[in-house]
Amino acid sequence: ELLAELNTLEQQFAVSGEQLIKISEHFAEELGKGLSKEGGNIPMIPSWVVEYPTGKESGDFLAIDLGGTNLRVVLIKLGGDRTFDSTQSKYKLPEEMRTTQKPEELFAFIAESLKNFVDEQFPKGVDKPLPLGFTFSFPASQKKINSGVLQRWTKGFDIPNVEGHDVVPMLKAEIEKRNIPIDVVALINDTTGTLVASLYTDGDTKMGVIFGTGVNGAYYDVVKDIPKLEGKLASDIPGESVMAINCEYGSFDNEHVVLPRNKYDIQIDEESPRPGQQAFEKMSSGYYLGELLRLAILDLHSKGLILKDQDMTKLNKPFIMDTSYPSRIEDDPFENLEDTDEILQSEIGIKTTVQERKVIRRICELIGTRSARLGVCGIAGVFKKRGYKSGSVACDGSVFNRYPDFKEQAAQALRDIFGWEKGEASSYPIVLTAAEDGSGAGAAVIAALAQKRLAAGL
Ligand code: BG6
Ligand code: GLC
Repeated sequence: ELLAELNTLEQQFAVSGEQLIKISEHFAEELGKGLSKEGGNIPMIPSWVVEYPTGKESGDFLAIDLGGTNLRVVLIKLGGDRTFDSTQSKYKLPEEMRTTQKPEELFAFIAESLKNFVDEQFPKGVDKPLPLGFTFSFPASQKKINSGVLQRWTKGFDIPNVEGHDVVPMLKAEIEKRNIPIDVVALINDTTGTLVASLYTDGDTKMGVIFGTGVNGAYYDVVKDIPKLEGKLASDIPGESVMAINCEYGSFDNEHVVLPRNKYDIQIDEESPRPGQQAFEKMSSGYYLGELLRLAILDLHSKGLILKDQDMTKLNKPFIMDTSYPSRIEDDPFENLEDTDEILQSEIGIKTTVQERKVIRRICELIGTRSARLGVCGIAGVFKKRGYKSGSVACDGSVFNRYPDFKEQAAQALRDIFGWEKGEASSYPIVLTAAEDGSGAGAAVIAALAQKRLAAGL
């Protein structure tokens, strides 16, 4: 009976090569629709980063990075020769901060962390305000580079009175209260930051992609192919008539036309603070992988197939398992899954048999494989839309960097979509490269570009 149920699970999480092709084709169309005047599901946000970095940008910049696992504050020294040095501090964002009722608390926490960092790095003070790039990894509409109106929270954040508002003044208010010598010159998405940082060091990058708490990508499009920049003709926009677009493709297929959602996906969506949104992200990003595992285990338990007579108190708590659970379980090197045994006993309070652990590990594999296979459809969609046949894609995020086999499975899925000959992942026309912590450097490069344009009066 358990085996039959496992078979059902295999089917529920499987995505065939044919499905991938269909999904990525629909993706390419939807990306185009997002750029049209009418708009579509995918926000396709113009970032006002209107040139490619030259690699010659230089100077000292600060960056703050909010929206992934950690809040980070980074000091970046751009060398002006395609190299940079960075020093950073990570601050764990208290879990309750995601849903605080007081938005000032979030911005105060950021400003406080920034202050500590600046005091530490510049004990003697600074001569002039330091330029700062604010990496705010949520869908924020930008009319210019140093502002961003939050469209809606994603990744489980749910704080009132921020949606519909520009977050830059909110941050500035807390910075001013603390007299921190900072000038916020740019607001950036983590994907745009990753893209630009990689271009700073490697001119062949086509996209910046995050496979982390959320999933999203950024790429450059040609200004004349962005009809929704109404009134703004290519010639009005300074630079090279290209603009980096933060796709926000976590919201791909919110109308559920092509994504093969299963009952766990539906439950996650219904119980989320924003049902109906981020359909693609909810099936593939790190914020949800542990939750999918929890729901599948609970399902088998409720059918009397596993964990009989175990205390389910902890497992009944939504989001008790973050992505590190499926990833650590999948990584367990022992035949009888002793690491998994330890994790489940000490952290979740359940005792498992070897057979139960094998079932749980198989579920982790199914969830991880699906995440990788679906995840790359965004990349395939952008390549199809732009007509790119090859190039490197700079990737960051905990799922990409730490989930076992993710990179390999992602490459394999791209091969399924484009029909390449089987070979080493590094020999495929589209190569996924790790750009760890690139968004801090990207924020610095973008801040440098913004400053240069400001100085030129553009
Ligand atoms: C970090 C980047 O390395 O990865 C962040 O600097 C990004 O900008 C983050 O948001 C995404 O990964 P995760 O797994 O922390 O959400
Ligand atoms: C979510 C956010 C997006 C971000 C992504 C990765 O999808 O909405 O802005 O880029 O997560 O962090």
